[in-house]
Amino acid sequence: MSEQTNLGGNFTLPNTSITLKRIGYGAMQLAGPGVSGPPRDVDAAVAVLREAMALGINHIDTSDFYGPHITNQIIQQALHPYPENLGIVTKVGARRPEDGSWVPAMSQQDLTEAIHDNLRNLGLDAIDVVNLRLMDDSHGSSEGSLAEPLTTLVELKKQGLIRHLGLSNVTPKQLAQAQTITEIVCVQNQYNVAHREDDAFIDDLAQQGIAYVPFFPLGGFTPLQSSALESAAKSLNATPMQVALAWLLQRSPNILLIPGTSSVEHLRENIKAASLQLPQQTVADLNAIAARP
Ligand SMILES: NC(=O)c1ccc[n+]([C@@H]2O[C@H](COP(=O)([O-])OP(=O)(O)OC[C@H]3O[C@@H](n4cnc5c(N)ncnc54)[C@H](OP(=O)(O)O)[C@@H]3O)[C@@H](O)[C@H]2O)c1
Repeated sequence: MSEQTNLGGNFTLPNTSITLKRIGYGAMQLAGPGVSGPPRDVDAAVAVLREAMALGINHIDTSDFYGPHITNQIIQQALHPYPENLGIVTKVGARRPEDGSWVPAMSQQDLTEAIHDNLRNLGLDAIDVVNLRLMDDSHGSSEGSLAEPLTTLVELKKQGLIRHLGLSNVTPKQLAQAQTITEIVCVQNQYNVAHREDDAFIDDLAQQGIAYVPFFPLGGFTPLQSSALESAAKSLNATPMQVALAWLLQRSPNILLIPGTSSVEHLRENIKAASLQLPQQTVADLNAIAARP
């Protein structure tokens, strides 16, 4: 099977008709520097999205606070009317003031406006999946109730504007609280071969059939660098980034990848992780990265 049709296999979000290829695409890199403003080359951004579709990707992760608004507008420009099987997942819970910072925006009004902004800028009547992104700690989760903002999103779901709900930057306790309010189909937290605080959480989500979608799968703003990744890549005739993605695919069947890139070449490189089998010894060597003090 080619990488295009395989893309790491499929995962169906629980109790939904949404089946996603395990290698998707994260759209955050399509905005300008600092995830603010337009990209230097809008045509290049459009080309990346169209190539993702051509390669068989059917999962795009985005947010209206990328740009803000601009990334979603580029997605609409590149892909609307959307392919039937495309799952678009967005996130709400923050806003971007003029200075480009990220501030929590969790009130009923903030969240309602955010959903309408996403719908308008993506050109949709309803969004497949919306993640409530908690903002207490910028890239790590911290405890605190999510009942109020989640209840707002449940209301918007009842109105037909959202099909399914997920969570981002959350703890297992917060997931449990959320599940007393509504069904959660996916969790999006920071995780990669060097950053493994969520190991036990991932296993628990796998048991429940819930997707785990790591953000910063390649290290995000600080790309992964490790001699173990480099030597594994050398021995497998692959690149370190492909090895990092293949490690995630092998880590657990509920992990869905959304590597971000602004480059068609990197996109093509990343999807080849689907056909990379890591031998047991390589996995053990890579597991040692996070174990190091
Ligand atoms: N829920 C959240 O709070 C949250 C937070 C952050 C991100 N996200 C989502 O997660 C997605 C992934 O995260 P991310 O984009 O921040 O980080 P990432 O996927 O870990 O890494 C992206 C970086 O890696 C580079 N890259 C990608 N492929 C490469 C390759 N084959 N070789 C070398 N460099 C490569 C990209 O640069 P190039 O553009 O040059 O390829 C970019 O600088 C985002 O796009 C976004 O949708 C969610």
